[in-house]
Amino acid sequence: MCGIVARAGFGDAIDELLAGLQNLEYRGYDSAGVAVRDESGGISVCKREGETDALEAALEDRRLGGAVGIGHTRWSTHGAPSDANAHPHTDDTNRVAIVHNGIIRNHDALRSELRDAGHEFTSETDTEVIPHLVAAALEDGAGPEAAFHEATERLAGSYAIAMVVDGEDTIYATRNGSPLVLGIGENANYLASDVPAFLEFTDRVVYLEDDDVVALDADGYQITDQDGTPVDRTVETVEWSAGDARKGVYSHFMRKEIDEQPVSLRQTVDGRIEDGRSVLEEFPPEYLDDVSDVVFVACGTSYHAAMYGSTLLRRRGIQATALRANEFAHDPMPVTDRTLVVAVTQSGETADTLASLRAAKESPARTLAVTNVVGSSAAREADDALFIRAGPEIGVAATKTFSSQVAALALLADHLETGRTAQSEDREMWPDTTEATADGGVEGTQIDELGTLPDAVETVVSDGSAARLATQYAEAESYFFIGRGVGYPVALEGALKFKEITYEHAEGFAAGELKHGPLALVTPATVVVAVLTGRNDERTLHNIREAQSRGAPVIGVGPASATEVRQTVDDYLEFPDVNPNLAGVLANVHLQLLAYHAAEIRDRAIDKPRNLAKSVTVE
Ligand code: F6R
Repeated sequence: MCGIVARAGFGDAIDELLAGLQNLEYRGYDSAGVAVRDESGGISVCKREGETDALEAALEDRRLGGAVGIGHTRWSTHGAPSDANAHPHTDDTNRVAIVHNGIIRNHDALRSELRDAGHEFTSETDTEVIPHLVAAALEDGAGPEAAFHEATERLAGSYAIAMVVDGEDTIYATRNGSPLVLGIGENANYLASDVPAFLEFTDRVVYLEDDDVVALDADGYQITDQDGTPVDRTVETVEWSAGDARKGVYSHFMRKEIDEQPVSLRQTVDGRIEDGRSVLEEFPPEYLDDVSDVVFVACGTSYHAAMYGSTLLRRRGIQATALRANEFAHDPMPVTDRTLVVAVTQSGETADTLASLRAAKESPARTLAVTNVVGSSAAREADDALFIRAGPEIGVAATKTFSSQVAALALLADHLETGRTAQSEDREMWPDTTEATADGGVEGTQIDELGTLPDAVETVVSDGSAARLATQYAEAESYFFIGRGVGYPVALEGALKFKEITYEHAEGFAAGELKHGPLALVTPATVVVAVLTGRNDERTLHNIREAQSRGAPVIGVGPASATEVRQTVDDYLEFPDVNPNLAGVLANVHLQLLAYHAAEIRDRAIDKPRNLAKSVTVE
């Protein structure tokens, strides 16, 4: 977890470092700090518990001058959020300052060894051993670069690290299992955990690989491997602008990103449907044709998208399962060389998902990353990558990336089915879901309907009903979300979104499961939100009545044409009629808005909910 930034250039570094930290706060906001090599050559550090604003306030009375510096925004793993545990960390003599994202597994052993050698520690963090290791090597006569190598060689765990040393114009950095991107600017060069940190200064980037060591100064950079041998890395141009990553007129990124869904969905789908079939240029026509089964691995919202995707695949006769990445990684299921393991991860940096991907790489299975971030660890480590093209998502609560993940998985489902049809190897469907459904919905290969989804989403985002209901039901004790088919992962996602930003009790259930236990919790103080998709809705109607007969008010979220449901429920959030396979995406947008408004009423930190971070780079 955490975000790091580094800048070496002309003119003072501090403003660019602070701008970088603001843009990285989605990675953690327990504390923020900077270290700048000042004009005298020494290192000045300022760090504060809390968000970057607290650091900025501290810097008002204390201008840090200097062209070379590093910064950090923290999500605590070792040691409570506090000034002392905030990064940068330094050695006893303040010669070396370090920022770190990741976890040093062997920090206890290193700390005792360093203590025995006379080093004193001032924090509870795992990170603090690093500046002490570097200082020890410098004391032994090594130059800064060699000292950096010596120190990082001793580390076990995951890390992206940047270092400044007194008297030096060069910043040294390396990564192993945590993201680190290099930015090449006109007046300065940058390093950061993610591109938004420096995107307003440059769009020319190098996505660094594990074990790359970078020496960066105002004039340029050099990348070597751990042995000091230069390595070549491609310079790429980032296609989204700094404006894409800014809030603009919105009070929260989350609301901006909910509203962006028509655009982001269009980006996901554009150019990927031809003659009613999905065309994924990432894969040659015959690629994936011999896939016999698909295992999705993912966490949180991405897991819900993976569940949604696995339902779509199964409805096309393809054997598919979605597993939580944190379970699969250490308890994998049997796979063959015809299994496709698909890691669904917005950031491409989630440690649990990467651990699953790495476990799958050890097996005969093929691997695919479905991600939003080109150059992310998942994209690079998987055999192939399918990009969801949702654009940057800054709000900690995932919104537009869920819709784009589902759309990308719908395209993948169609692609896989095309291959299977070509081989005439279709598994026999039971029941045959390519037929018209009982309530008139037709399923099967209507992938071109994905193209109409953005307009339907537009209708939902401009509907104010969710705001009204958030106020009407603000006093409830619990919020239960139920759904079946693709409505089930949407119910889980609705509950996750609601709890993570309102801090209220919210749970999601398969609609049919309510009567097998959870119904005991249903009272007049429990709001039940029922997701309808136009498929098997009559069954969910029974579950709605079960809740209502215990006094619970029910909000239905479903298609405009669902007359009977609308007449039964207490309130209804409606969306345009679409193919039931896609209806869950529209229902989910209503649920995002419901959670958003409920959090707004409660004055919650919507973009940065307590205890959470956007990119969870620890297992
Ligand atoms: C919830 C949320 C998280 C992430 C999860 C996986 O709103 O955003 O549950 O979905 O941490 O993140 P990625 O998709 O980056 O792997």
